[in-house]
Amino acid sequence: MLEAILLVGGQGTRLRPLTLSAPKPMLPVAGVPCTTHQIARAREAGVSHIVLGTSYQAEVFTQAYGDGGDLGVRLTYAHEKVPLGTGGALRNVAEHLHSGPDDPVLVFNGDVLSGLDIEALVEHWRSSEADVALYLTRVADPRPFGLVPTDPSDRVLAFLEKPTTPEEIVTDQINAGCYVFRRRLLDDIPDGRPVSVERETFPGLLAAGARVIGHVDTSYWLDLGTPLAFVRGSADLVRGLAPSPAVVGSTGDALVLPGANVHPSAVVDQGSTIGRDCIVHAGAHVRGSVLMDGAVVESGAEVIDSVIGRAAVIGGNCRLLETVVGDAARIGPDNEFAAGARIWPGTELGPMSIRFSAEPA
Ligand code: GTP
Repeated sequence: MLEAILLVGGQGTRLRPLTLSAPKPMLPVAGVPCTTHQIARAREAGVSHIVLGTSYQAEVFTQAYGDGGDLGVRLTYAHEKVPLGTGGALRNVAEHLHSGPDDPVLVFNGDVLSGLDIEALVEHWRSSEADVALYLTRVADPRPFGLVPTDPSDRVLAFLEKPTTPEEIVTDQINAGCYVFRRRLLDDIPDGRPVSVERETFPGLLAAGARVIGHVDTSYWLDLGTPLAFVRGSADLVRGLAPSPAVVGSTGDALVLPGANVHPSAVVDQGSTIGRDCIVHAGAHVRGSVLMDGAVVESGAEVIDSVIGRAAVIGGNCRLLETVVGDAARIGPDNEFAAGARIWPGTELGPMSIRFSAEPA
């Protein structure tokens, strides 16, 4: 039996206002929550029991998944009344595990899409007799991430969180948000207070001489923490660039969910997802975007690399680029929003009220 912990308790502040109404791991990417993609991939790799470490909007997870029967795994929940951070959450989950002290336990951050060969990670942990094995990937610009240099035998040399100076950028290997722990190390994490696994637990293990190894896997990887990454991840799933057994019904360029109505003269492409009961009117163009259930895009509007919340309405001839529109907002016709715009849930905007454009006026 292989067990896993899924960390899903974060507030998802970078994805507001979408995360005001749903926790980040439950926002739909290619039609289903990121959590569903992760559970499906973990099950494929032989995981039979997953404990969800919840805090923010915990009830959303239990209502959606129950005991996991529909997904073919056993699910249990460990709730934190006060968020305990990524390390404290692992300690809080430990009592739900059945693995023996020297068994492997997988840990997944709840907002990562990846093509990681999970079985190869566990096998690397086993064959190198490691205490912890970390999934590492390589990125062109590692500055926003945690750097993890390793020696030729894969042993981790340091944890360098979000480097700022060129001297600190000693590697392009970053912590990709999935680990294998020897179970008893989870029991050693301090109880009842916030702990960061990246800033406290891992450096502490290195200082104590634990055997911590890096496992580099350069297949698909994306952290869905920001709006732009979120739409990209969803489009990559729809286009089959990011692997997941939970994507159903994609044409390869678009995913139109049951009950949605797309006018024959509208264009939906570049990996867009049109949620259940959405309406896309004549001449509209939805490109690389996510329309959540019940959203409406009126005639001639252009929605590019944007996320439109549930039941929001985008008026005719609007133009949205890299914009986030909260649930049930109503944007009147002929408005224009450039990259980075965020419209709060329920906002009502009249026609031609905003021309927020990146181009010179
Ligand atoms: P931001 O606020 O936008 O940074 O997002 P976040 O709150 O999700 O934080 P971050 O992306 O750093 O979290 C990485 C993973 O750990 C996500 O899957 C979070 O859900 C999870 N996580 C973060 N903090 C906690 C916590 O205190 N408890 C639990 N159970 N999970 C957490």
